[in-house]
Amino acid sequence: MSPPDQDRVVQRTATVEERVDAIQAALEARGLEASQAVEELGHLAEERWIPDNGARVVARAWVDPKFRMRLLANGRAAVVELGFTFPKHHRHLVVLEDTPWVKNVICCTLCSCTAFTIIGLPPDWYKDLEYRARVVRESRTVLKEMGLDLPREVEIRVWDTTADTRYMVLPERPPHTAGWPEEKLAAIVTRDSLIGVARL
Ligand SMILES: [Fe+2]
Repeated sequence: MSPPDQDRVVQRTATVEERVDAIQAALEARGLEASQAVEELGHLAEERWIPDNGARVVARAWVDPKFRMRLLANGRAAVVELGFTFPKHHRHLVVLEDTPWVKNVICCTLCSCTAFTIIGLPPDWYKDLEYRARVVRESRTVLKEMGLDLPREVEIRVWDTTADTRYMVLPERPPHTAGWPEEKLAAIVTRDSLIGVARL
């Protein structure tokens, strides 16, 4: 005999939207203005925390050797010079300079941390469990799958982000850009090149 219907309760996991709504409702019930904060964060993520910021940093480093030195010595302080900001907990920004023989790549094996105020919020693939695990173990293969086929002699260095130490890759300047003004240079710098999974 089959069990009565009420015994067959189907457990369903709430969707992300449902969970967000539930958290927001709980915060608002306690007098915390969650929806306003969510709106503000959305605005910051879409308008202010964009890879164009990192692109401007890279372009400046390409044209100004003294700035480049400061950027490599203390990334956070040099980026702040250009008017960009960091959350308090991003205590260090380490800028990793690519060379013809070294390719730097960023990941966050624990979750999805980036220097988001200058690189932007992490793309979906960066948060993917597969990327986070495989980029460490088989970086050359992962980069090749992403369209970056590096010669064997290029050393790949993978940097694992932590809560207080964030990274940005300083990509190599393409040789055909000699003499270009800073703004034109900034326009060719992509988010993926700041994460290190692409060369320019
Ligand atoms: Fe993380």
